[in-house]
Amino acid sequence: MITSFILASALALLPTQVLASNNGLAITPQMGWNTWNKYGCNIDEQLILDAAKAIVSSGLKDYGYNYVVIDDCWQKNERENNKTLLPDPTKFPRGMKPLVDDIHAMGLKVGIYSSAGTLTCGGHIASLGYEEIDAKTWASWGMDYLKYDNCYNQGQSGTAKLSYDRYNVMSQALNKTGRPILYSLCNWGEDGPWNFASTIGNSWRLSGDIYDNFNRPDPACPCETYDCLLPGFRCSVMNIINKSVAVAQKARSGGWNDMDMLEVGNGGMTHEEYRLHYTMWAALKSPLLLGNDVTNMTAQTKEIIMNDEVIAVNQDSSYSPAVRMWVKGDQQMFSGSLANNTQVVILLNAGDNETKMTATWDDIWFYSLPNVDSSKSIEVRDLWQKKNLGKFSHQITLDVPAHGVRMVKFMGSAQSS
Ligand SMILES: *[C@@H]1O[C@H](CO)[C@@H](O)[C@H](O)[C@H]1NC(C)=O
Ligand SMILES: *[C@@H]1O[C@H](CO)[C@@H](O)[C@H](O)[C@H]1NC(C)=O
Ligand SMILES: *[C@@H]1O[C@H](CO)[C@@H](O)[C@H](O)[C@H]1NC(C)=O
Ligand SMILES: *[C@@H]1O[C@H](CO)[C@@H](O)[C@H](O)[C@H]1NC(C)=O
Ligand SMILES: *[C@@H]1O[C@H](CO)[C@@H](O)[C@H](O)[C@H]1NC(C)=O
Ligand SMILES: *[C@@H]1O[C@H](CO)[C@@H](O)[C@H](O)[C@H]1NC(C)=O
Repeated sequence: MITSFILASALALLPTQVLASNNGLAITPQMGWNTWNKYGCNIDEQLILDAAKAIVSSGLKDYGYNYVVIDDCWQKNERENNKTLLPDPTKFPRGMKPLVDDIHAMGLKVGIYSSAGTLTCGGHIASLGYEEIDAKTWASWGMDYLKYDNCYNQGQSGTAKLSYDRYNVMSQALNKTGRPILYSLCNWGEDGPWNFASTIGNSWRLSGDIYDNFNRPDPACPCETYDCLLPGFRCSVMNIINKSVAVAQKARSGGWNDMDMLEVGNGGMTHEEYRLHYTMWAALKSPLLLGNDVTNMTAQTKEIIMNDEVIAVNQDSSYSPAVRMWVKGDQQMFSGSLANNTQVVILLNAGDNETKMTATWDDIWFYSLPNVDSSKSIEVRDLWQKKNLGKFSHQITLDVPAHGVRMVKFMGSAQSS
């Protein structure tokens, strides 16, 4: 815990206003929807069009979800003239461009997927060695976003330089198309992309793939921290949160830590667990890519993914990810600065029983010590209940549900100078 305080305070000194990548995109974390978590390889043009229409008609678009990302398994497994990628003609009978045009006409943007390897993770043709050709093809279809995976990378990883060089080829190729294309690296945290990707990409994955489960240990996701190098997959929500806290402060405007696509609405977690999942993705400034069936959402799913006040924390103009201030057994406490001298505080209870949790003003404004006025009385608003809880001084104590969070906003600061 002491080490993480030191790490976080050293990182807090880094300039946060530096725009990471050169394409001017993802000033705040990108938002949208991706096919993979719900549908895997079972995608086609109709499914994607239906999802895009639902994103508009349900109101999701108005909340900021504007990228429709087509993940793996869209490809025909043969290049035209050994060059140009083509979509699978049975899934995309009109080709890609007409679909992209239709989605653009709805006021949404479109994303595509490939791997910095010879094959994608689903075993389809990928882009290593074909970066310029593929970037040009996607630009000609009107693509606005690339998710770029790490499978079959021919051993070109293991050092930050090998990974950087391989991912930089695509970064340059995208730039050369002249079309602004958001570049989302997906190398599962291998070789520490938070240290090498900020000048070439708009976001980088931190861990193995998410699994729709709150905290189940899984042999496929063997690591709990970044001291361990195996990326794995089937990583639980708590596993990913625990990994993310150590590098949270590496995020900045234009370059974000990607905790992976959301599972809210897919059925593997309770309502409180999904609320916790969404809260932490928002507060740590992960991209918010929905992964559920947006054509058929329950009221509970909508309540989570359409909370404008929680989304506002993710999209806040201070661009500061929340910092984990302490861990006590199953309890964790986070604090993050927001615009206008306000502050978000999260009390997280990973335990199996409801509990009371307390955060003191010294916990919340730890980095301002000793210039903290503990007697300062501050209005506190609950962002999930959407109501003000009243004024507090010195500390706040709240009931926190099992496998749940309380997420509150302090409408002022206790910093005394
Ligand atoms: C390409 O990079 C240059 C600077 O390196 C930047 O000015 C330009 O906007 C970029 N273009 C695109 C399309 O990303
Ligand atoms: C396809 O192109 C690659 C790279 O340009 C080349 O190495 C390969 O020999 C070509 N294959 C055929 C069948 O032409
Ligand atoms: C998350 O981290 C906490 C504190 O180190 C630990 O108690 C807990 O077991 C971890 N949970 C998972 C799922 O890794
Ligand atoms: C919609 O979701 C409900 C569960 O919430 C399910 O029972 C129903 O079959 C779904 N309908 C469709 C058309 O997928
Ligand atoms: C900050 O305050 C300004 C001026 O009152 C207001 O326009 C802006 O919306 C506020 N921003 C946030 C994130 O609350
Ligand atoms: C925690 O909750 C479980 C049921 O979920 C219950 O059996 C147990 O007694 C509770 N423990 C405490 C300390 O309240």
